[in-house]
Amino acid sequence: MAKITITLNGKQIQVEAGSTVLEAAKEVGVAIPTLCHHPALSGFGACRMCVVKIEGMRNLPASCVTKVTPGMVIETHAPEVVEARRTILELLLANHPLDCLTCDKGGDCRLQDYAYEYEVAESSFVGERHQYEIDDSSPYIIRDNNKCILCGQCIRACSEIKGMNILGFANRGFDTKVTPAFDVNFADSDCVDCHNCVAVCPVGALMPKELAGKARQWEVTKHELTCTFCEFGCKFNLVKKGNEIVGVEAKSGGPGRPLCLKGRLGLDLIYNPNPTAKPLIKKNGKYVPVDWEEALRIRAIINKLNQMQVTE
Ligand code: FES
Repeated sequence: MAKITITLNGKQIQVEAGSTVLEAAKEVGVAIPTLCHHPALSGFGACRMCVVKIEGMRNLPASCVTKVTPGMVIETHAPEVVEARRTILELLLANHPLDCLTCDKGGDCRLQDYAYEYEVAESSFVGERHQYEIDDSSPYIIRDNNKCILCGQCIRACSEIKGMNILGFANRGFDTKVTPAFDVNFADSDCVDCHNCVAVCPVGALMPKELAGKARQWEVTKHELTCTFCEFGCKFNLVKKGNEIVGVEAKSGGPGRPLCLKGRLGLDLIYNPNPTAKPLIKKNGKYVPVDWEEALRIRAIINKLNQMQVTE
């Protein structure tokens, strides 16, 4: 790939032509904060946390969707850039529960990390706050729209990785929210609980139910392992608190084959020392327990379908 010369934070550097400012900065070790960007998903440019100053441009463009051009002069942490990021954080916190003390995402939350980095302890914007009911209907995912920052990563992951389009934006303005079609809960949607949305959520809006209340993020260690359910060998994290395995966690996207439901959820069957729970399958829109014989029979059918998809 051809290289071009740009100036980043006062230094002349060579970066790949066609890359975004965000990618170029990352290439030379400069971190720019992002909330709606994910390297495995299409560009969105919605949250504006990644804004930078570019000589000759009137506004502060979003670095995740702005391509580098030869001779571009960029500042990633100019005072007005930092001020803009602080304002964005304040706007988000104005309608976000400040329950980090009890939130399972605490310690692994990008909003929390940036609030710390940019010293935003509270919001100066006061106004109405949402009081959404928590969607606890799925056996595997907890959806708390009160914590959603509308970054849209879950929507793009569902569409671009899984090809399902279960989630989308509904309503407009202050009432905008992420929800399945017709605003039904997860259990009543066609969601297959693949957890691609959970893996990319930067805050605590979508959380794996199996890990809820089991440990704070800093108490656990994550051990990368390779799924053995099929020949693809996808990577996962085994989550341990001390010597106890508390669950498995999908690794967040990345290039390559999207991780599948069997690996994301089925590893619990192997690593859980007390697999007392019965397998659940969705029948007529409701999760019902089935015996292992039936579950394994269905798994064999899904395996077959997966193989057919791969060879298509
Ligand atoms: Fe660039 Fe959200 S990360 S606009």
